[in-house]
Amino acid sequence: MQPPAAGTLRVLHLSDTHLTGDGALHQGSVDTTAALEGVLARVDSIPGVGLVVVSGDVSEDGSAESYAVVRDRVGGWAERHGAALVAVPGNHDLREGFRQVLANGHVLGEGGRPLMHTMEYHPPTVPVSGQSVVAGRRVVTVDTSVPGAGYGEVSETALERLRTALAGEPAPDGSIVVLHHPPLPAPTALHDALKLRNPGALADAIRGTDVRVVLAGHYHHHFAGSLAGVPVLVAPGVANDTDVTGSWSEESAYVDAGALVVDLAEDGSVWSTPVRVPRPDADPLAFHMDAETVTAVIDASTAG
Ligand SMILES: [Fe+2]
Repeated sequence: MQPPAAGTLRVLHLSDTHLTGDGALHQGSVDTTAALEGVLARVDSIPGVGLVVVSGDVSEDGSAESYAVVRDRVGGWAERHGAALVAVPGNHDLREGFRQVLANGHVLGEGGRPLMHTMEYHPPTVPVSGQSVVAGRRVVTVDTSVPGAGYGEVSETALERLRTALAGEPAPDGSIVVLHHPPLPAPTALHDALKLRNPGALADAIRGTDVRVVLAGHYHHHFAGSLAGVPVLVAPGVANDTDVTGSWSEESAYVDAGALVVDLAEDGSVWSTPVRVPRPDADPLAFHMDAETVTAVIDASTAG
């Protein structure tokens, strides 16, 4: 891949690693630690990465062991490449386990150096919020998870923290917002039931600010769109790839993994390069749910 232009911040955007603490297979079919290793090996030669982002569903089971996998393996990659590491919780994450290992998600700073954290206690009802500065860009994480539910929402607390972060000292080269549930239409009925419920509130919070890009995950497939004039990029999943061509009422995914390389230029331009990491040795279908199963999953995930 071409090296980034001078003054550009290159971001390696990973999402939906769905790591398990005990090595259990995701949806009974995918070894997500192996999938993550495959992605990290594939992107190892990409030059000039200054920031690694994991935009939620870091863990499948919320265990401290699963967060240690991301800290050690993605953190190790970032450290070797001199890159910062930022993660945000998704609907599968549990805030207690996340905080125990990753604190507020701003794990490594510029140059891959560990960030200091005051480990003050927050109950799981309080969203995980944080911000740091990487290469002149303010990186703000917004926790869209809703404890016990699969859909997403930017709570009043999270919105207030986002507004406060963006109202602070202007970042020399703008801000990056990282969250799990994308403020974009969903590809299937299941994802539609589990989408971000208040994208308008997020739009109001970022409109007219210095936010240059919103990085999201959750849909396990690469999407690009915009919100309030700001580009929104959804990373492909590490765990699997949603079949976006299938029936609206059913849900399938392929055994496939990927990442985005997002370049943020000094003049505010943004562009991204999807990296596909196929797994030719695996069964191509990760899982399939018929319409009845999808309805049951929706009922269980939206009760909260
Ligand atoms: Fe998700």
